[in-house]
Amino acid sequence: MAIKEDIQISSLPAHIAVIMDGNGRWAKAQGKLRTFGHESGVKAVRDTVEACAELGVSYLTLYAFSTENWNRPKFEINALMTLLVSTIAGETKTLMDNNIRLDTIGDTNALPSKARRELEEAKKKTASNTRMTLVLALSYSSRWEITKAVKEISEKVKSGDLSPENVNEQLIASHLNTAGMPDPELLIRTSGEHRISNFLLWQISYAELYFTDKLWPDFRREDLYDAIISFQQRERRFGKTSEQIKTV
Ligand code: FPP
Repeated sequence: MAIKEDIQISSLPAHIAVIMDGNGRWAKAQGKLRTFGHESGVKAVRDTVEACAELGVSYLTLYAFSTENWNRPKFEINALMTLLVSTIAGETKTLMDNNIRLDTIGDTNALPSKARRELEEAKKKTASNTRMTLVLALSYSSRWEITKAVKEISEKVKSGDLSPENVNEQLIASHLNTAGMPDPELLIRTSGEHRISNFLLWQISYAELYFTDKLWPDFRREDLYDAIISFQQRERRFGKTSEQIKTV
């Protein structure tokens, strides 16, 4: 198991994204309701946020609720929304104490009004914090985000405000929910599943992928350290050859 001292602080990933998976299986293994797994996942969220802030990671994005999660049983959706509200309300002070800004990506208009209000309040309160940005992906899916961006760009072309020749990668990125954020350099998925599940498809083009069998409620800072150390041991070539990278 990794220790903090094994991490090279000078080459931390600027942005870490996490697919927090396995809450349901974790609970089921103990004969408990899936919702107990989600509740237990909050401890892992807290530990990961704290560890990232302490190390000096600039952005941490957590996949908390996908567009597809709306298809889950109503009881589970309600429990997740209630948990979201109570977690945000309970953690805003910690975010303030640790100088962490809260942001969201996704179709937050689709969330219940109580959750929307709680999020807006926490975002406003933490808006000028500078140590780290914690981004919650809520009612988020990458295809939804890209479709929305294409619609907005098409409208601008249609109205004559934008010429098709000026549609480039930067312009597309600036129409995504993540506009202004660095792309994730490390994507972690827990629970042994090796899938991306409609998460940040554009943004993870060059991210290093890290999969662990740990179920999300069991994920702790040492597991995050393992992921970062694995990231730091990899050669990131961005399409170039190994020799080209070494001569830079
Ligand atoms: C995936 O596990 C997890 C979720 C859909 C929800 C994640 C939510 C939390 C960790 C709780 C609170 C977080 C915040 C930021 C307030 P799963 O249900 O798909 O598990 P399974 O694959 O074992 O069924």
